[in-house]
Amino acid sequence: MKRQLWLALAAVAFAQAPGVNYEESMVGAYTLPDPLRMSNGELVKNATMWKRQRRPEILALFESQVYGRSAPAPRKIDYELLHRKTDALGGLATRKEVAVWLTPRRTGPRMDLLIYVPKERKGPAPVFLGLNFGGNQAVTTEADVPVTKKWVRPGKFTENGRATEASRGTEASRWQIETVVKRGYAVATAYYGDIFPDHKEGLKDSIIPYFYKPGQSEPEPDQWQAIGAWAWGLSRALDYIQRDRELDGKRVAVWGHSRLGKTALWAGAQDERFALVISNNSGEGGAALARRNFGETVERINTAAPHWFAANFKKYNRAVNDLPVDQHMLIALIAPRPVYIASAMEDLWADPRGEFLAALAADPVYRLLGTDGLAVKEMPEVHAPVMSRIGYHIRAGKHDVTGYDWEQFLNFADRHLSKR
Ligand code: GCU
Repeated sequence: MKRQLWLALAAVAFAQAPGVNYEESMVGAYTLPDPLRMSNGELVKNATMWKRQRRPEILALFESQVYGRSAPAPRKIDYELLHRKTDALGGLATRKEVAVWLTPRRTGPRMDLLIYVPKERKGPAPVFLGLNFGGNQAVTTEADVPVTKKWVRPGKFTENGRATEASRGTEASRWQIETVVKRGYAVATAYYGDIFPDHKEGLKDSIIPYFYKPGQSEPEPDQWQAIGAWAWGLSRALDYIQRDRELDGKRVAVWGHSRLGKTALWAGAQDERFALVISNNSGEGGAALARRNFGETVERINTAAPHWFAANFKKYNRAVNDLPVDQHMLIALIAPRPVYIASAMEDLWADPRGEFLAALAADPVYRLLGTDGLAVKEMPEVHAPVMSRIGYHIRAGKHDVTGYDWEQFLNFADRHLSKR
């Protein structure tokens, strides 16, 4: 009886759940907040007003309403070189593992950075920095990179919540380390689970509790959760990179795929030391406009992953038009620094058109700041990358990071991250 009742209730709940919309004609009308108008209605007239008034206003709204406020940057950087090998990748690179402690006095989790530095280079190498999903051993086939001992998402290459040796290299195609190194860039990465284990109960094993005020037992509604913590971790990786003489801390591209693409945008928006930002298939809560009802929605993301965004973001589950921001303003926070948005044809869940339209709606801010913004007004054809200061492409295929994507990221970085 009980079971029947439960099944009946579940059926009702399912029937009421709004279907996912994949019909362009069903998207409906929406009005985006104007990035160049202050909350009090005043128009942003020049770069100074953007920098001093509107940018801080938008940043504060994303903090309080979307991702949550993060802890301030630590005063001291605490790191230790664990391992250094000068003939990695068959002699192409120097490989290092560096432990970076994320909380004071080594009380809490540490993040292990894996770094490949091209040996052939003229000075400090520019860097592609990003977090990975499966542990550092997953991004490379090299046998002597340690397998993460932390909790990983259950899957084919895990046993009892831990990664197995079989996970080595399983994300290698998403990183293309050899190609990147051959183009003269260093690669730096860390496992995102070092910062916040990506599950609903992950908070307690994350870095966040180490920053509670006395007596605090959970983040305030306007404080950080997983995406905020991961983005903060990227800034700590940058702290380290800026100390490393082999790396050029002024030419660091922060990148990420999917939930880590959302993270890269948020990291780049907050931390202006990142010279370039790349979002790959980041979708809802990343580059895609929240107001467009296509693919994933605010309600769905907050339900499936309640630990990603600030608790305040849930207020908009059924009131997305009440959001004081939309994702074009997240991209605008990166201005005038170069930003690249990549979509995939079959990745409808992430709303490719919504990702393009957000890039387009950030263009006025880039232009106000004197750059060429996004060089097109219409969504480009498949495999027709746009390489202006706001870059964009859509490729064939699924939700993934491919060689095609990397080719464009590298071309974009060659153009926009060259020595200044
Ligand atoms: C889910 C989620 C997306 C996210 C993706 C990923 O599909 O709904 O928002 O981008 O996972 O990170 O792979």
